[in-house]
Amino acid sequence: MFHTLTISAVRPETDTAVAISFAVPDDLKDSFAYQPGQYLTLRADVAGEDIRRSYSIASCAGEPLTVGVKRVEDGAFSTFAQNLKPGQTLEVMPPEGRFVTKGAKNIVLIAAGSGITPMVSIASDVLAQGGEVTLIYGNRATDTIMFRDTLDALKDRYMNRLTLIHILSREPQDVAILNGRITGEKVISLAQAGAVDLAGAEGIFLCGPGEMIDDVHAALTKADIPEDRIHFERFYQDGEAPRAPKSAAAEAAAASGVAVEVMLDGTRRQFRFEAGDDTVIDAAARQGLELPYSCKGGMCCTCRCKVAEGSAEMAVNYSLEPWELEAGFTLACQARPTSEKLVLDFDAA
Ligand code: FES
Repeated sequence: MFHTLTISAVRPETDTAVAISFAVPDDLKDSFAYQPGQYLTLRADVAGEDIRRSYSIASCAGEPLTVGVKRVEDGAFSTFAQNLKPGQTLEVMPPEGRFVTKGAKNIVLIAAGSGITPMVSIASDVLAQGGEVTLIYGNRATDTIMFRDTLDALKDRYMNRLTLIHILSREPQDVAILNGRITGEKVISLAQAGAVDLAGAEGIFLCGPGEMIDDVHAALTKADIPEDRIHFERFYQDGEAPRAPKSAAAEAAAASGVAVEVMLDGTRRQFRFEAGDDTVIDAAARQGLELPYSCKGGMCCTCRCKVAEGSAEMAVNYSLEPWELEAGFTLACQARPTSEKLVLDFDAA
């Protein structure tokens, strides 16, 4: 459910990124309490189109609720967001997301570009609680580093507990290993050089483009880092994520039409999924029914629901865990029916 929040500050971070802070009224304080690493979904009418996007919370402990928004090429919302001003309002959904530390006190953060946003919040929180943080942060050059002042302030304050390693791809640094992009090989080399303790970390958190995450994840796995210590958050804009083509069963079901029923907030609603529909969310929207969603990229779980009858496949899934798949959960923003009838329960826990 969206709430109207007033923007209290807009701070340029780089030439193409801003930090947007919100004033949260007292009666919404509980709803907007967050765990570092979570994100907000923002919604606005941009040139007549209802657009929503998810942005990670970048607030340091005790600071106002803030998100970082980097302009992406042809990104309607991220471009619109660069020109927002204090006093304007936006529709904002309460914090969500599973990219959280769960009390880990000794962590390694690996981020590229705007993937730094949740890391700022996570690092600040862990450091404020007496923990230790190593942050490996990749950028093109010094002037594209988001939250640079915030990171420098954290470094000054927690000199002995924060290790900050900048990797730059287009600005030579004296130490060869710090040049280029973040890769799995580079991360392992940094560990071998003693700059980062991968084996001793309670959690290793990755955030940035899918390519970087896949490469580093593979290298960590090869280095015998247990899977349950590796956490990641991918950055894809709506429509960017690679999607599996519809299977023959999904094509056949769509061709003959599927009766879909959803249970949402205790109410049952029906609509049809037809040949031109890509996902259940799209089919519902075409028929005027708005189901919960935010990223539309299989990452956030806002659209999570349980298949109560029938079957469906997903185009991508970056967020449901194996036990949830086993229990019959799906992501409505990715779901394509593979049966004549499909019943989805959004109220299932
Ligand atoms: S809306 Fe984010 S996973 Fe479906």
